[in-house]
Amino acid sequence: MNRLPMHSLRRAPEVDLDGTWEFRLLPYQEEWKSVQVPDLWTMREKDDPPHYLNVAMPFEEVPPTVPAHNPTGQYRRTVELAAQPGRRTILHVGAAEGHLNVIVNDQAVGDSTDSHLAAEFDITEAVTSGVNTIELTVAKWSAATYLEDQDHWWQSGLSRSVFLYTVPEVRLGDVAVVTDYADGRGSLNVTVSTIGLDHLHEVGWSARIGVLGRTESRLIAPRVVEPAFPDSTVDRSTRPEPVGIPDGVMNLLSLHAAGAPIVGELRPIADIMTVRPGKAGSAVFALDVLDVAPWTAETPHLEDLLVELVSPEGEVADAANFRIGFRRVRIEGRDLLVNGERVLIQGVNRHDVNPRTGRVITRDQMLAELSLLKRFNVNAIRTSHYPNDPVFLDLCDEIGFYVVDEADIEGHAFTTTLAHDPRYLSEFVERVSRMVLRDRNHPSVIIWSLGNETGYGPNHDAAAAWVRRVDPGRPLHYEGAIAHDWHGGHAASDLVCPMYPSFEALTAFSADPRADRPVILCEYAYSQGNSTGGLAHYWELFESLPGLQGGFIWEFKDHALDPDGDGRYRYGGDFGDEPNDGTTLLNGVVFTDLTPKPALYEARGLFSPIRVSMDGGRLRIRNRQSFADLSAYDLNLRVETEAGPVGALTLPAPRVAAGEEVTIDLPGSIVALLGTALALTVSLRTREDALWAPAGTEIAAHQITFPRPLPQLPRASTGGEVRHPLLRRVPRLCLWRALTDNDGSFMLDHRFVRSGFFRITPVDVDGAITRYATAYGDEVVHTRTVTRVGEGDYVLDEHVVLPSGEALRVGMEFELADGFDHARWVGLGPWENYPDRRSSALLGAWENRIDDLSVPYLKPQENGGRGEVTELVLSGPAGTVRTTHATPLHMTVSRHTIEELETATHWWELPPSARTVVHLDIAQRGVGTAMLGPDTRPAYRLTEREYAWQWRLTLTSP
Ligand code: GAL
Repeated sequence: MNRLPMHSLRRAPEVDLDGTWEFRLLPYQEEWKSVQVPDLWTMREKDDPPHYLNVAMPFEEVPPTVPAHNPTGQYRRTVELAAQPGRRTILHVGAAEGHLNVIVNDQAVGDSTDSHLAAEFDITEAVTSGVNTIELTVAKWSAATYLEDQDHWWQSGLSRSVFLYTVPEVRLGDVAVVTDYADGRGSLNVTVSTIGLDHLHEVGWSARIGVLGRTESRLIAPRVVEPAFPDSTVDRSTRPEPVGIPDGVMNLLSLHAAGAPIVGELRPIADIMTVRPGKAGSAVFALDVLDVAPWTAETPHLEDLLVELVSPEGEVADAANFRIGFRRVRIEGRDLLVNGERVLIQGVNRHDVNPRTGRVITRDQMLAELSLLKRFNVNAIRTSHYPNDPVFLDLCDEIGFYVVDEADIEGHAFTTTLAHDPRYLSEFVERVSRMVLRDRNHPSVIIWSLGNETGYGPNHDAAAAWVRRVDPGRPLHYEGAIAHDWHGGHAASDLVCPMYPSFEALTAFSADPRADRPVILCEYAYSQGNSTGGLAHYWELFESLPGLQGGFIWEFKDHALDPDGDGRYRYGGDFGDEPNDGTTLLNGVVFTDLTPKPALYEARGLFSPIRVSMDGGRLRIRNRQSFADLSAYDLNLRVETEAGPVGALTLPAPRVAAGEEVTIDLPGSIVALLGTALALTVSLRTREDALWAPAGTEIAAHQITFPRPLPQLPRASTGGEVRHPLLRRVPRLCLWRALTDNDGSFMLDHRFVRSGFFRITPVDVDGAITRYATAYGDEVVHTRTVTRVGEGDYVLDEHVVLPSGEALRVGMEFELADGFDHARWVGLGPWENYPDRRSSALLGAWENRIDDLSVPYLKPQENGGRGEVTELVLSGPAGTVRTTHATPLHMTVSRHTIEELETATHWWELPPSARTVVHLDIAQRGVGTAMLGPDTRPAYRLTEREYAWQWRLTLTSP
C-alpha cells in the first residue's frame, strides 16, 4: 500500500538513515535498545535466531495464512528535517526482510513485501520541519513469505540502507535505456518519463540527454528519430563535434552510482538533442550508428549517460546518470549470442551471505567477492535466488560479468500450487516487473530469471509476458518451465536451463533433432564438502557438443554463519533451529570467509582464457575467449623437475585473436631444461592493475607433462617386519575414508557402508599373508613382502584381493611419532586434488606445512588428498621419513585420523593435534557430486578386485 512504483533512478541519499536506531523485538521485548541499521535482528537476538531450512517452511500453515506467532522487529528513530518548499520527501528502504510497515510521526504511510528490492514512500505529507519520528516495523511472516522459501537461512530485519531524498514536484519518474550493438556500431534508445507534469499541465518543459565517452569523441552521424509522443517537438540540434562539459555535469557525476569513483578524463561526445515532452510527460531519444566500444564481460566498456529535465525557465530541474554499455544479446537457434558471438557461461550461483552479518553485505565485500571470481575466470553470475543490491550490478557492469538476474520467487514448499494460485498472481508479476524496472539499464544483466523452484504455472506465464513486452531484448530463464520436459515451457523460458543433469542426458539432448534452444545449466557441479568431481567432464561436453553453453556451479559460497566472530562457524541446527537441513548449505566453491576451496582452482583452469598444447617442439596457445585478444596477459614459463621449478621467465602473451590459436617457439633456455622435466608450466598473469587484481596476478596455470621415469625399487623376499621408533603405527591396509557428503548420500544407497570396508579385522596371519574380515564377515586378503634394504629402509610389495563391494580407497595407513611439521612431495599439487577433480592440478615438486595440507571442510570428511605422487618426504625435529613409489600413489597427510574426522561435526571441534597420519593409496575413489547430480564416472570407481603395488619407506632419526 502506497509504495511508489519501481524505477531505475539511483537517487543519492540526502539524509542517511543508516546507523543508530531504537529497536525492540515483539512479542519478546518491551524495552527499546540501540541497534545499527542495516541490521538483521536474527543475527543478534537469541529469541529469534537464524533458521536454516531448504524446502519445508519453518511453520505448518499453508498459503496464504500468516502464522499467529510472528516475531516482529520495531525500528524507530528521529530525524531533524528542514522545510523544503516545492520538494517531495521520499523514504527509501533498501531491503526489508519481512513485511514492512512504515509510520511517520504516528501517521500510517504504507507497507511493502518483496524482501530483496527497495521500497520507497512519499512521506511529504507526514513530515514537518523540525524533529520527525520514523518507525519501520518488520513482521517476519506474511502471505508473501511463501514466495521467499529459498534454500538459505531465514533472516529478518532491514538488510540494506535506509535514507531520505527529496525531489522536485516535477521530476524524472524513470529512465529506460536500451542499447544495441551490431556491425561495429552502437545504438541507444532512451525513454524518459516524468512525474508531475501531467497533473500540473505545465508547458515548456524539456528533457535532454548526453553521452560522455571515456576516451575520444566517438559520436558519428547521430540520427534523431521521432519522439514517442506526437505533440512533442524535436530540436534537431545535433552536434557531432565534442562540446564543453555542460554546467552541472560534474555535480551530476558526483551523484554517480553509490560511490564508484569516476576515473579518467570525461569528454562529452554528444549534447544531442532536446525533446519537449508532451502532456503525457514522456519522450524517447534514439540514436544510432554510434562509434562506441562494445560491452562484453571480457571487455566491459562503459559510457556515461546523463539525463536532464529542464524547466521552462531553462533550469535543470532534475537529473540522473547511468553507466551504460552497448551490447546485443540474442538467441539464434541453439546459441546464446552476445554481440553476435557465442559465449560460454562459466558461472556460479551467488547468494548474499556474510558470516558475521548474514545477508547484510557492503560494497567492499561485494567487490572482494567479484574480484575473487574474476581472478578465477568466472564470467557469469546467477543472483540465486533474488535481486541483489544495485551496487552489485554496478560492479558487474564495471568488472565484466554476465548476470542472470533472478526474481525473488521461490515457493519450494508449495511448488505444485503457488504458480497456479490466482491469489499470488499479482505478487508474481510485481516481483518480476519490479526487478526489471530497477535493473534494466545494466549491461551486465543479459538474462531475466522468473525465480526458482516454484513449479510452473500461469503466474509465471503472466510475468513472462510482461517482461517480453517491456524488455524484449533479453532472454528469459526459468528452470521450472523445462524441469519435466526439456522441449517444453517456451512461454516462460528461452533457455533449457536444467539443474544437475547427468552427462548422458546432456549428450542425448545435444543430439536430439527436436532441441531448439541453448542449454545453460542453472545449477550443476554441486559442491557440498569435498566434491565437484566431474567438472572437467562437463566442460568437455560444453566445449564439444552443439547447443551446450555452460552453466552455473552450485554454488559460490558456503552459508556458514559466525555471528559472534569466534571462529566457530555454524550450520543448520547450531542455533537451536528445529527442524533444519543441517549442512545442506555448505556447498560453496569458497568458504563463507571467502577462502577458495580446491574446487575453485579446478574451475579456474577449465575457465582459463587459454588452452596450451605442444605442436612438434613448439607451444600452441589457443585463445578460448569470445572477444578479447591476449594482450592483457603475460605468459610465465617454468620447468618443473623433481628438484623443484627451474628456468622461470616471463614474456608477453602472443597477440592472438579470440577463438584463434598460434604456435610459438619455446625460448632456448626453456628447451635446454626439458630433458629432465616433469612438466612445462605455462601460467597466465595480468599485465595491468585492474579494479579486481593488481598487475602480475596469476589467473591460470596449465601444463605440458612429459613421460615420468618411475623409481625402480629392488624386489626381494627377505620377509620381515617394518618397525621403527619413528612409526607410531606401522603401515596397514585401509579401505575406507571419512565419508564425504557425496559418499554418504542416499543417492549412493549407503553402498560403502554396506560393503563393510569401514572395519577390517585381521583374523589370520600366516607369514606374509594377512586375512581380514570386513564388518560383515567378507574376506580381504593382503599379502605383503618386505625387503629390508638398510637400517630403517624397507621396500614393500603389496598385493590385495577384495571381496565384492565398492571400496573408497585401497592403500596403506600409518602414523608417525610426534615431531613432524613439513611435507614435500613430487606429484600433483599444490592444492588438494582427487582423481575426478584434478584437471587443473599441477605436476611438480611441492612443499607445505603439514598443518596446511588439510582442507577444513566445516563438516569434517576426507580431505587434503594429492594424486600421482612418486615421492613424499615428511620432516621435522623428529627426523625424516621418505616414501618412494614405483607406481604413483594418492597421498593424504593429516593431523587427524579417519575416526576423528568422522566423529567431529564441525572442523573447529577437532582437537589440536601433533599427529601425522599418512595414507598412501594405490586407488582412491573420485568424489563426484552424488548428493545432487551425477556420481563419479565408472573410471573413478574402485571396482577392481585385485591391486598390487610396490613402495619404499625410509626412516631416518636425526
Ligand atoms: C537446488 C536449489 C538450490 C539449492 C540446491 C541444494 O535445487 O535450487 O537453491 O537448494 O538445490 O543445495
